[in-house]
Amino acid sequence: MSVLADIDSGASILCAPTPAAWVEDALAHLPELLQDHANCEKKAASTALALMFAYPEDRPLGAALSRLAREELRHFEQVLRAMALLALPFARQRPGRYAQQLRRAARTGDPGRKLDLLLTGALIEARSAERFALLAPHLSPPLARLYADLAGAEARHFLLYVGFARAAAPQEWRTRLEALAEREAQLVTEPDETLRFHSGPLRD
Ligand SMILES: [Fe+2]
Ligand SMILES: [Fe+2]
Repeated sequence: MSVLADIDSGASILCAPTPAAWVEDALAHLPELLQDHANCEKKAASTALALMFAYPEDRPLGAALSRLAREELRHFEQVLRAMALLALPFARQRPGRYAQQLRRAARTGDPGRKLDLLLTGALIEARSAERFALLAPHLSPPLARLYADLAGAEARHFLLYVGFARAAAPQEWRTRLEALAEREAQLVTEPDETLRFHSGPLRD
């Protein structure tokens, strides 16, 4: 996978780009997308907290994830404000298949589980960064600015997760990243039933 050769320069770890059809679907379902986006920010914070509880002995990880969780909650508040400005209601919404299926690809026992959770965190952040950057040019204020800013923030987060993954398993991280990145790419490119921030394009 050639992208992995460039990882030190901060190049993406994703092994397939988001299909153009997803961008079209997302723009056609903006209220649904924003609702799911708000939920994703909450989920990003709770994933970070879950990792802090799972590995309390890793103090550098705990300190970094504490900051990350606070940042994700600020993102949540920013999305809420954007939704209020656009007069979009906040409703209950079922999550898509992405996070659950990706988590299913992670090993269930340590030491492998910690590496896999760090790598799935990295992939989710990298996909988010890619999609914010793809959507931003098509949006009007205030969303255009917000999405451009979030693209930068989530790119920082993916590098943070990759850094901890490399430290946790210097020999193994690359091979596991390749396997998990392939699963991740399937989930965001194969036709999907519902439009979500990390879904595939909608089935015809
Ligand atoms: Fe975020
Ligand atoms: Fe993030």
